[in-house]
Amino acid sequence: MIELKGISKVYNKSKPNEVKALQNINLKIEAESMLAIMGPSGSGKSTLLNILGCLDVPTAGIYKLNNQEIQSLSQGKLAAVRNRHFGFVVQDFALIEEYTVMKNVEIPLHYSKNKANKKERILTLLDTLGMKEKASEYAYNLSGGQRQRVAIARALINNPDIILADEPTGALDQEMGEQVLSIFKRINKEQNKTVLIVTHDDKIAKQCEGIVNIVDGKIY
Ligand SMILES: Nc1ncnc2c1ncn2[C@@H]1O[C@H](COP(=O)(O)OP(=O)(O)O)[C@@H](O)[C@H]1O
Ligand SMILES: [Mg+2]
Repeated sequence: MIELKGISKVYNKSKPNEVKALQNINLKIEAESMLAIMGPSGSGKSTLLNILGCLDVPTAGIYKLNNQEIQSLSQGKLAAVRNRHFGFVVQDFALIEEYTVMKNVEIPLHYSKNKANKKERILTLLDTLGMKEKASEYAYNLSGGQRQRVAIARALINNPDIILADEPTGALDQEMGEQVLSIFKRINKEQNKTVLIVTHDDKIAKQCEGIVNIVDGKIY
């Protein structure tokens, strides 16, 4: 379970360009839930996701993951928590274009201790995402929907328990977006993973179990 108490994030603190990106966020997210995070551009959605995923640390407040306080961990320990618990999916897929599908999905395993049966694990995962036949294809030859499937496979290869997706359907047409959402729903239901999706799309948000609304760095 995730628990945020009084979480704030200030960029450029005490400078003329100071930004209060998050202000006193209190939030509980049950394990195995699937939530949408919505709000206008600049409201703090990505900042929240980055803090949840241990890519960034809050300026103030307490962040507990499974009852362990995270906010005061060292860089190294924070990275270990990130690698163990979180998988990330972003809007523009962030694939390495001149790598094959296989090689893209393999990237997180370079930082993982568990490299056993690497090839089989990747192929099994690609199979569940309907991408096994494309394993040797170069990323630059894929459609947007296929790219996002590869990015999802890359997010899942270390078997994280929480998937953080920042506008994962933002660059896809409606049909592709629906397909990608159905993959997230399946991951949530069948593999019991927590899924948090930042989205602007009401149709996608409605298919989640709940919606977290952020405006000006505050939750409503
Ligand atoms: N690294 C950064 N340095 C300074 N300001 C930032 C940084 N990242 C985000 N911001 C600012 O923080 C606010 C929240 O940004 P963000 O979390 O990206 O919002 P959203 O994802 O909802 O569009 C915005 O005003 C943005 O300009
Ligand atoms: Mg954002």
